[in-house]
Amino acid sequence: MHESTATLDRVMGHEEEGWSYARYGNPTNGALEELLCELEGGAAAVACASGMMAMQTAFIVALTDRPKRILAASALYGATTGMLTKIMEPLGAEVAFVDMCDPPAVERKIAEWKPGCVILETISNPLLRVAAIDRIAQMSKAADAALLVDSTFATPLLVRPLELGANLVVHSVTKFLAGHGDVLGGVIISDAAHAETLRSVARLSGPVLGPFESYLTMRGVKTFVLRMERQCANARRVAQWLGAHPAVARVHFPEDPTHPDAEIIARLLPRGLYGAIVSFELRNAGREEVFRFMDALRLVVCGTSLGDVHSLLLYPAIASHRDLSPKQRERQGIGDGLVRLCCGIEAVEDIIADLGQALEKCVSSETASELPRISVAG
Ligand SMILES: Cc1ncc(COP(=O)(O)O)c(C=O)c1O
Repeated sequence: MHESTATLDRVMGHEEEGWSYARYGNPTNGALEELLCELEGGAAAVACASGMMAMQTAFIVALTDRPKRILAASALYGATTGMLTKIMEPLGAEVAFVDMCDPPAVERKIAEWKPGCVILETISNPLLRVAAIDRIAQMSKAADAALLVDSTFATPLLVRPLELGANLVVHSVTKFLAGHGDVLGGVIISDAAHAETLRSVARLSGPVLGPFESYLTMRGVKTFVLRMERQCANARRVAQWLGAHPAVARVHFPEDPTHPDAEIIARLLPRGLYGAIVSFELRNAGREEVFRFMDALRLVVCGTSLGDVHSLLLYPAIASHRDLSPKQRERQGIGDGLVRLCCGIEAVEDIIADLGQALEKCVSSETASELPRISVAG
């Protein structure tokens, strides 16, 4: 209700601040959007009903007034790749993929192909590769392409992509920002140049998050930094422990000095905060051994999400990257022995003890003779 029709007229005409219709905005969503905008250092934010809704809306914003060509990271969350190939392409957009961790290849492709939008993840899912956002932002700007960054894994505590030159940042707030596994939501945060387009696209397409989910997300954000710091610290300890375990063939974690993107990580990620996710490959394992390992876990929850207060483990081959063919997965380096763990806020000794007892149940007899007694030193 407004005090007069004249006031309603000014609100509808954007001459006066106010609320007129829930799809255009509501006070609870407005408060969340302000908060997330501040956290990312953006100019405008729109809270959406899911991370994928935010992604779809961000593509529309990025491609308004630009060539309908999207240059995407070859390593992306499976549903984002699916959205590109199964929705955007059939709608007429051209889509190409490139290894974002190969800057000369990215530079060549942007210069030759002149995309309207470049999309990458700050820390890629599930192999935790880190691209040089700042350099790719410069290349995108030079070609007038919008750089869209999915920063769900990194969160604004680790990296603020807009400060590195990105134009649009997307989060699945379902994950670390809401943080308790009880919200499905997303957000797009834009720089000043895209703020007006973001607002007008959102008013028309209505990706809006429900106000109750906005409230829950704001409640979650109150403890975001505490949770994230603890989760990152747990992940460091777990990665070190896994690295010394004979049943583990390989650990993917950004702190690893032999990580293929170590130089970029040293520049972009703050020391001590490498994210809460550790991916690792079980030695000589296929689906059968991985299933046995997962079924043996007692504390770590096997689920298809991440960023919860509980540790969550996911098997990409049957979950996040299920829709890719085995060949596509192999090309991305996602083997049948790879699992992705997102550390929660539990005592790290308990996480390690649970992983240890589950690993014992899935390894071959010759590896079993080398198993360590559970130790959490370091
Ligand atoms: C990196 C990343 N981006 C986007 C999404 C999609 O988010 P939502 O499930 O909230 O739609 C996910 C979901 O797992 C994700 O991991």
